[in-house]
Amino acid sequence: MAWIRKYAPKNLKEFVDQKKAVEQFLVWYKNYKPGSKAALLYGPPGVGKTALVRAFARENNLNLIEMNASDVRSAQKIKEVFRASAKQASLFGKKKMFLIDEVDGISGKEDRGGLAEIIKFIKESVFPVVLTANDAWDPKLKPLRSYCEMIQFSPIPPTYIVKRLKEIAEVEGLIVDINVLKALAERSKGDLRAAINDLETLATKKEITVKDLEDLGYREREEDVFQTLKMIFKTKSIKAARFAVSLVDKDPEELIWWIEENVSNEYETIEEIVKAYEFLSWADLFRKRIVSRQNWRLMVYMIDLMSAGVSSAKKDVYRKFTKFKPPLRLQTYAKLKPLKENVNKALEKLSEELHCSTSCVKKEFIPLLKILAQNEKYKREIMKYLELDKNSLEQLLTL
Ligand SMILES: Nc1ncnc2c1ncn2[C@@H]1O[C@H](COP(=O)(O)OP(=O)(O)OP(=O)(O)O)[C@@H](O)[C@H]1O
Ligand SMILES: [Mg+2]
Repeated sequence: MAWIRKYAPKNLKEFVDQKKAVEQFLVWYKNYKPGSKAALLYGPPGVGKTALVRAFARENNLNLIEMNASDVRSAQKIKEVFRASAKQASLFGKKKMFLIDEVDGISGKEDRGGLAEIIKFIKESVFPVVLTANDAWDPKLKPLRSYCEMIQFSPIPPTYIVKRLKEIAEVEGLIVDINVLKALAERSKGDLRAAINDLETLATKKEITVKDLEDLGYREREEDVFQTLKMIFKTKSIKAARFAVSLVDKDPEELIWWIEENVSNEYETIEEIVKAYEFLSWADLFRKRIVSRQNWRLMVYMIDLMSAGVSSAKKDVYRKFTKFKPPLRLQTYAKLKPLKENVNKALEKLSEELHCSTSCVKKEFIPLLKILAQNEKYKREIMKYLELDKNSLEQLLTL
């Protein structure tokens, strides 16, 4: 079992830090009666939002019913659960509590239904409802916020992370240099899940020293993107390649372009290059899914493909110095960005005016606009109506 599960807190005693949040949560629960607000636990990843709800339910013998709002058919699921169990208190049996996890993962427009379902759920449930989110201030969650008591979670301070890692190491019978734990805590930036994962990655033998961190490529002050690229391209270890991604202060969505740009600088045979690009295109598929479904859980797959995948594409490590380059693609993207924003705005305007989704606008109305725009006079009117300059209009018509 993965350590983050194995060492998930079973009760509040095992729960680390977050004193204020826990207190607020307990008061909220104590005062809960049907019709009161839901609790919205929000804050960065890996700091105990979901873990607190589970530990609390377990400790108090509650029947916790979990839903994940970032699932594709979440609205349907929420409706079903609601129908089945939220309205009536059972005479016998356990008390219930509902957890709707990751409400910020609910996708914007298409899932407006989902948000409405959640609000209905909160208003009519006779049991406490808990929601979680990373970004609770997301404008799309505005309608929800007035039905919620906001409970903020913060990054966990390094000392607490060290303490927890120490406990885990002890149970696992590991001997770990305290400096390793400190380094992991520092790196995790308050994300206990990440820290536990890192420790598990390192635990291939009983004794872990600072030297092992170095094997994984950990360098205290050289955490730049070139270092990460070097590790991915120069290592044959899956773990080290994976770890390299977490060392750099860049999002994987950006890092992927850095890797793409440099594949052909490092690898020399066609087979290696083809293989590397294959992995990158899979990674890119996940990237698109992550963006379109806002499903961040897929990120681990994307990271594995772009790091360990690309790393494994070579036959042997090249003993040469490669000068890595920044991705051209990002520079072009930066230039295209304002255009894209204009186009999206226009699409949304059309979607609202025409009462159909943006993809329906693309399929059914853009072809029409294209024909109209052949006439200069209409073209000018379209540009004016959609507030587009010439370049942006051209971009829109190529959709
Ligand atoms: N405060 C904490 N106390 C004890 N363990 C924790 C704490 N925070 C995180 N963990 C550990 O990290 C794992 C992940 O935490 P959790 O699922 O609660 O994160 P989260 O805040 O819900 O993050 P996300 O926003 O990504 O869902 C837990 O299973 C547990 O092992
Ligand atoms: Mg969570």
